[in-house]
Amino acid sequence: MAFRFVDGFCCVFALCLLFPPFSISGSTQQFCSAESGYYGATACGIQSSSSTKLLIKGGTVVNAHHQEVADVFVEDGIVVSVQPNIEVGDDVTVLDASGKFVMPGGIDPHTHLAMEFMGSETIDDFFSGQAAALAGGTTMHIDFVIPVNGNLLAGFEAYEKKSKNSCMDYGFHVAITKWDENVSRDMEILVKEKGINSFKFFLAYKGSFMVTDELLLEGLKRCKSLGALAMVHAENGDAVSEGQKRMIELGITGPEGHALSRPAVIEGEATARAIRLAHFVNTPLYVVHVMSIDAMEEVAKARKAGQKIIGEPVVSGLILDDQWLWHPDFITAAKYVMSPPIRPAGHGKALQAALSTGILQLVGTDHCTFNSTQKALGIDDFRKIPNGVNGLEERMHLIWDTMVGSGQISVTDFVRITSTECARIFNIYPRKGAILPGSDADIIILNPNSSFEISSKSHHSRTDTNVYEGRSGKGKVEVTIAGGRVVWENDELKVIPGSGKYVKMPPFSYLFDGIDKSDANYLSSLRAPVKRSRSEG
Ligand code: URP
Ligand code: ZN
Ligand code: ZN
Repeated sequence: MAFRFVDGFCCVFALCLLFPPFSISGSTQQFCSAESGYYGATACGIQSSSSTKLLIKGGTVVNAHHQEVADVFVEDGIVVSVQPNIEVGDDVTVLDASGKFVMPGGIDPHTHLAMEFMGSETIDDFFSGQAAALAGGTTMHIDFVIPVNGNLLAGFEAYEKKSKNSCMDYGFHVAITKWDENVSRDMEILVKEKGINSFKFFLAYKGSFMVTDELLLEGLKRCKSLGALAMVHAENGDAVSEGQKRMIELGITGPEGHALSRPAVIEGEATARAIRLAHFVNTPLYVVHVMSIDAMEEVAKARKAGQKIIGEPVVSGLILDDQWLWHPDFITAAKYVMSPPIRPAGHGKALQAALSTGILQLVGTDHCTFNSTQKALGIDDFRKIPNGVNGLEERMHLIWDTMVGSGQISVTDFVRITSTECARIFNIYPRKGAILPGSDADIIILNPNSSFEISSKSHHSRTDTNVYEGRSGKGKVEVTIAGGRVVWENDELKVIPGSGKYVKMPPFSYLFDGIDKSDANYLSSLRAPVKRSRSEG
């Protein structure tokens, strides 16, 4: 694990020698990199932004379980106390939060930074993607390690390198793309030594990531024995392939062919299959990017029956509909291509309702950005358009505006679905996902009366388009504090490449509680083996 801030000043100073703080204004900076650009005038950030002591004064402090008007005192990257009227000395930077909400920074459970995929590499790396995240109030994300030729440890090492310029905290899930003894052994090493507690199985992407039911079963058993959470991308890859063939035969080669080739029924089937196999093995399952009513209803049914299933909708699936895929301009349409596809109107509203009532538990982004040039790889064939959309910077604003703004969820629910539940599922609560004494000081100040507007001209991602272009709303993240440092204030980012820490996530989260008992009940219910006497005849 990377260092913790034992002495904030020394650590910030040391990091500044290695990587000077990088200052980006929200309205002017489009492309963001660790190597180039304007460095803030504040030499080594030894000013308010890097003070080791902060007091956030007079805001409404919101946790998933409770909200109260209080001050928050932070020292050396950790929350020290949360109570009204905290008195401090002159050496403390004071941030006035009166009339505003003080909440745990967002945790995005689903991102793909610097990911090699479909003949391209996502344009946001760990620095630019994280800078964008911080500008939008997200202070931690969990990315997916892709194995190298099926080798998990080689994949993990590659992602350790990719993430060394990180400017906020992050963790990893690891994808499983083949099965043999080495994979099974490496899963154990990753869980016991490397801080991994989740593995992802793709039921789609035939010919690259897709796994068979046989592999999924092996993986589910191994996950269960290690206390690791199995995750699935649930689409039937064989049916997708058939659907794609059908579209090409019909002469449909544009982005609309992407949606038409993989309808919701294919997502529903794979979701149901994965859920039933998890039931058969008796292990928890996390369904990533639930995009359709079909998939959501499978999650709902299984949860109602008592199965430990987590359903993760993503912002694009909650907010957008598929109309853009029919846009006559190829690039405009192609930027909405992701898998499973963004669905026809109606699905998003149903997913919002499921999220607000606890059928679905937390919101991710599946941030996986390709620019216009990369999307153009599929100009003659939708099967070659790199799949993925943006969302890391936009998630918190859009969920606040759409769901809190409309009264569908409370402010405490907002904290739960954007931060706390993710921390609980991946077993890092209350270090993350809470503002409590001892928690990491990953905190946002959101002004409910201030407005945001989304544009590729002002966003901090490196991509040149934005699937939420032109959207505006109420409720703006005015301040982001990551690891006790103010990294976003007055529409300006002050981020230090290399300051983000890798967060190890221990196995056996709360989702595993009681599994031993239900296994014992199962065994005692078998009434077998039956003792039979051999009768001759
Ligand atoms: O289109 C998507 N979702 N791209 C990222 C890879 C995945 O399936 O999560
Ligand atoms: Zn996926
Ligand atoms: Zn994904």
